[in-house]
Amino acid sequence: MSLEAEVRHWKEERGALLLAHNYQRPEVQDVADFVGDSLYLSRKAKDTDAPVICFAGVRFMAETAKILNPDKVVLLPDLAAGCGLADSITAEQLRTWKSEHPGAAVVAYINTSAEVKAEADYCCTSSNAAKVVSSVPAGQEILFLPDVFLGEHVRKQTGRKMHLWVGDCPVHAKLRPEQLVQARAEHPGAEVIAHPECGCSTAALPHVDRILSTDGMVRFAEETRAPVVLVATEVGILHRMRKLNPTTQFLPLSEGAVCPYMKQIDLTDVRDSLALNQFVIEVPAPTAAKARLALERMVAA
Ligand code: 13P
Ligand code: SF4
Repeated sequence: MSLEAEVRHWKEERGALLLAHNYQRPEVQDVADFVGDSLYLSRKAKDTDAPVICFAGVRFMAETAKILNPDKVVLLPDLAAGCGLADSITAEQLRTWKSEHPGAAVVAYINTSAEVKAEADYCCTSSNAAKVVSSVPAGQEILFLPDVFLGEHVRKQTGRKMHLWVGDCPVHAKLRPEQLVQARAEHPGAEVIAHPECGCSTAALPHVDRILSTDGMVRFAEETRAPVVLVATEVGILHRMRKLNPTTQFLPLSEGAVCPYMKQIDLTDVRDSLALNQFVIEVPAPTAAKARLALERMVAA
């Protein structure tokens, strides 16, 4: 039996829902029930009746699934699938920051640990950050964390004054404005799309046509008639784009934009996860209870 067939067999055997993020390996995306961005997958995890959710993504995504749907068994196929951006702030650091701004609303990007979410008032993803920030009562001070580039982008979109935590994603922060300018010169007429976590997203705004979440990029890929599209994000997303639109050439801004955390999981890990019930993600009940309100606001926005 092929590995794909084994995964399908165990998925059926366990009655499991297999979710995969847009940056996962192509072969993992191809066996998943749903592939998407953080918001879409959170909603799928929250709404499922399946007893088991196997999350081919990174740890904060699996934790989010567990918090939103606590009665389900949530599996992360490799515990090394963390997130460099989520590691850039601890709950202790956030508590200190909050104590310096009493009364401020805390808006936490989904790329944070469950403990950090438990200290937040609102969570958001790259696809609804502006909407969530705009829902904070006017005049209330805002602490936005942990991605400084996303924060700057949302500040411009909403016109809200926000204090920004200076964290970044080790993959996206490396994508620089100079690279974009050069790629544009090499591909005149190409459309350029960028993820808001990019180090190039704010400084190089005049050189970017759209700033989009990963699902926003996929929808753009389906619709564009441009001959060439330059894509400033993790290279895993190119698989879906090329499948959905074989007539456009999708080129990465950098071949080196590879997230080591997202690439931890392969088909063997998914098969073993389902067959051996590993690795079960638990979030302590008091932490989950505190984080749930912020996450419910995120999925509702
Ligand atoms: P999306 O929500 O846009 O998929 O982003 C998640 C992520 O980790 C980007 O690095
Ligand atoms: Fe985290 Fe960056 Fe990887 Fe996304 S690409 S999971 S933000 S390290």
